[in-house]
Amino acid sequence: MLSGPTRRRVWVSAPDVVEIVTEPVPVLAPGEALVQLSVSGICGSDKAGAHGEHFFFKPPYYPGHEVVGVVAALGDGVYGVTVGDRVTVEPTLICGHCKPCRNGAENLCENLQFFGCGYQEGGMADVFAVRADRLHKIPRAFSDHQAALIEPLATPVHAVRLVGDLDGKAVAIIGAGTIGLMTLVAARHGGARKVVSADPLPNKRQMALDLGADAVLDAASDDLAGAVRGELGESADVVFDCVSHQETLDSAIKMAIKGGTVAVVGGARRPVSIELPVLQEYQIRLQGCTTYRSEDFDDATRIIGSGAFDADRLVTSVFRLPKAADAFAAISSGREAKILVAADPQ
Ligand SMILES: NC(=O)c1ccc[n+]([C@@H]2O[C@H](COP(=O)([O-])OP(=O)(O)OC[C@H]3O[C@@H](n4cnc5c(N)ncnc54)[C@H](O)[C@@H]3O)[C@@H](O)[C@H]2O)c1
Ligand SMILES: [Zn+2]
Ligand SMILES: [Zn+2]
Repeated sequence: MLSGPTRRRVWVSAPDVVEIVTEPVPVLAPGEALVQLSVSGICGSDKAGAHGEHFFFKPPYYPGHEVVGVVAALGDGVYGVTVGDRVTVEPTLICGHCKPCRNGAENLCENLQFFGCGYQEGGMADVFAVRADRLHKIPRAFSDHQAALIEPLATPVHAVRLVGDLDGKAVAIIGAGTIGLMTLVAARHGGARKVVSADPLPNKRQMALDLGADAVLDAASDDLAGAVRGELGESADVVFDCVSHQETLDSAIKMAIKGGTVAVVGGARRPVSIELPVLQEYQIRLQGCTTYRSEDFDDATRIIGSGAFDADRLVTSVFRLPKAADAFAAISSGREAKILVAADPQ
């Protein structure tokens, strides 16, 4: 029997086993805030994590890194947020003193822990504790659906920052899940002249068209690279691989030849090989992309606030917290874009 206030939280206890556990509400450490959940997204990384296939974290884990909520209590020494603020979490728990942190590259923190991905706390809970310095206040006018897309858009915003100026460039995007679709939004925002998206699923291709892709292609076609070049009318200046399987990286490199950039955004599930002579001879730039920095959160918030896209169309299903197992099952259906787990007031 638990005494004192309790909370329910989602726990991926073993591969493909999603449970709800009831535990005491955590006692806040100095610098922490207690946040009451509004919604938490599930993404491709959770899909891999829950299957036990993510490269960096495996079950058991407490999910929820795309979180929107309301600050319910503050630990000692918290500045910048107050009880009642609507917030989203920047889930990178950085150390602040290693070389990348000191150089403003905190997403590359050498001591990085990740809220909701292998850390002791995640956002899929009635309430959760999080370092208050990782909270971003959400503009008053934002709906929960818009706010839930700040974190997923921040990754592509960062990827676009890494590849350099897209103004006037020809861009290909492989994969039209949430990350691929948000990459489309970010690339357009970055000035891309022509954008072609590829996905094997017709519903995803339709979403890419709705978000302003110039053309969409069936990624299962025999010569995807040739088809992309046909649609672009030239090679791709930049290819964003938002899948990162062997076959997607192979076609991405063919699309970029010669002299283009391949941005690896998708999380590879297993090692992928590269023909190094091709990379060298055709002067292909292979750019790894990981998460975001604070300014990417800010830019993502501005892009969403500008009305660049309809968040409600990206959010295809919402499940209450006790139904989190159904939400995780739904991510593998192929029908869904962004799935949210929502608060379940008792
Ligand atoms: N770099 C980062 O920091 C970062 C951040 C978040 C997510 N990710 C990764 O990005 C990837 C995408 O995430 P998501 O949330 O969009 O996942 P998702 O599962 O919603 O979408 C994946 C999409 O890829 C499509 N696809 C599958 N095989 C394909 C192929 N051979 N060619 C083209 N498309 C194919 C699927 O139909 C689907 O639409 C995941 O691997 C995730 O782990 C990376
Ligand atoms: Zn995510
Ligand atoms: Zn650090």
